[in-house]
Amino acid sequence: MTGAEVRNTVSLTDTDRGVSAAAGLLRAGELVAFPTETVYGLGADARDERAVARIFAAKGRPLHNPLIVHVSDLGAAQALAEVSPVADALARRFWPGPLTLVLPLRPGARLAERVTAGLGTVALRVPAHSLARRLLDAFGGPLAAPSANPSGRVSPTCRAHVLDGLGGRIAAVLDGGDCRVGVESTILGFQNGRPVLLRTGGLAAETLAEAFGIAALDTPEAEAAVTAPGQLASHYAPRARLRLEAREPGAGEAWLAFGPGPQGRGPGLNLSERGDLAEAAARLFGHLRALDALAAERGCATIAVAPVPETGLGRAINDRLRRAAAPRGE
Ligand code: TXA
Ligand code: MG
Repeated sequence: MTGAEVRNTVSLTDTDRGVSAAAGLLRAGELVAFPTETVYGLGADARDERAVARIFAAKGRPLHNPLIVHVSDLGAAQALAEVSPVADALARRFWPGPLTLVLPLRPGARLAERVTAGLGTVALRVPAHSLARRLLDAFGGPLAAPSANPSGRVSPTCRAHVLDGLGGRIAAVLDGGDCRVGVESTILGFQNGRPVLLRTGGLAAETLAEAFGIAALDTPEAEAAVTAPGQLASHYAPRARLRLEAREPGAGEAWLAFGPGPQGRGPGLNLSERGDLAEAAARLFGHLRALDALAAERGCATIAVAPVPETGLGRAINDRLRRAAAPRGE
């Protein structure tokens, strides 16, 4: 089995037949991409070592980078992890939704070892997308699912994005249209009993901090980078270079605008004309892909990006933009 496995990737529709076909493929150890409210996930049976190995092969994902496990409800989470009273309260308030909790793995959880990369913790979330929930119910078990894109590339927010990156490498994609949130889930862990924000995402950090009655959540210490091994600096990489915090596009640059700012003369797209951060998050990955293609077509080596406020969903947007702009080792 290699990442270069060539096959026909089937598109399944948002119907009972589509959902049951997807569940059947997953039971047979195959990979099925499915929509969540954040981004599309690349699903596999989280208890099946071989199926999980296929995720890493299809994505070209480093083996030390653990996967998020998707479950249907809090009860299913409790079967896999030690859910502390604090985590329980968060789950009751924010699940289903774009919050992933990193919790101690329960002995006897019987998850494939690669799911957790041997960390002793497991990342869990209950997705809010109705099709994801129907799939989890039909499958009847935990689904390991990273974002359904080749490792280091932009996450997919529709079926076409999934096929663009993984077509021919996975058995099927369940089509749920465009993702509503558009950036991945917020990841919260605990270090020495204190909550730590491991990744900004679709649940605003301010909302989480408020749930704890504190002004702001801690972020991991540099030496604790191992607790979020997927947070590689260069990620979400388009082909063009990104120039962040740009007031306006320079000559020969493509332009990713936010709000009613200046128009460029070259290719350009606006994350949100009215400066709405939720709209900008929902459009971010699609616009990055489309503008990258336009930039290549028009010979622009750089995409200039307008400043986005560092509040609410803006934090997740800026985090993804900074990773997309980071130097890469290719
Ligand atoms: O919205 C999302 O979270 C999407 C959808 C499909 O649910 N999934 C997603 O998965 O973004 P992925 O694999 O692209 O990102 C998972 C992140 C990685 O940064 C990984 O390192 C981290 O979760 N992670 C997984 N298990 C962990 C653990 N036990 N401890 C710390 N971080 C963990
Ligand atoms: Mg990802």
